[in-house]
Amino acid sequence: MPNIEIIQADITTIKADAIVNAANSSLLGGGGVDGAIHRVGGVEILDECKMIREKQGGCRTGHAVATGAGKLPAQYVIHTVGPIWQGGNNEEEKLLAECYVSSLELAEKLKCTSIAFPNISTGVYHFPKKEAAKIALTAVKKQLHHLTCIQQIIFVCYDQENYLIYQDIMTYFSDL
Ligand code: APR
Repeated sequence: MPNIEIIQADITTIKADAIVNAANSSLLGGGGVDGAIHRVGGVEILDECKMIREKQGGCRTGHAVATGAGKLPAQYVIHTVGPIWQGGNNEEEKLLAECYVSSLELAEKLKCTSIAFPNISTGVYHFPKKEAAKIALTAVKKQLHHLTCIQQIIFVCYDQENYLIYQDIMTYFSDL
């Protein structure tokens, strides 16, 4: 059964096989964790994103694509696009859960043994943090028995608020 870890850190420092980027549908970078990953990882990541754009256009909300990780300590960056919070009646919950499932499925295809997630959609996209954390942990928990390669799943909280929320919710997921 994969090990689940909650840490407070900058995801660009995490040496997991794959780190997940909270990207936007253009795949051309942005602020927040997207900005940090492109800044630290270097132009190779953007070049690969542009090749993906040429092949399939951008990336739809809830979907995920993978690139190399350039100068980052990870091997891959899995770019997924979270939903923008619009009040909760536009399938935001379903789309956010799909980000975690799509990223895990892609990491499995890439034979990753470890994957690190940021708190997708809880920054610029304004998803309420507590709801987002519950969705993230529930979506990942449901996937655990499907995983054959992944042994470690790390939730990387950048701010203390998210870190405390995840820690608190994890106490209810005693079987994680
Ligand atoms: N490491 C880990 N987490 C980070 C980092 C980092 N270096 N920088 C920011 N975060 C956290 C934020 O604190 C937030 O909790 O990532 C979470 C997601 O916030 P955003 O990066 O703003 O992502 P999101 O809310 O999904 O919005 C995506 O923002 O940057 C643009 O191009 C991106 O348009 C897209 C949108």
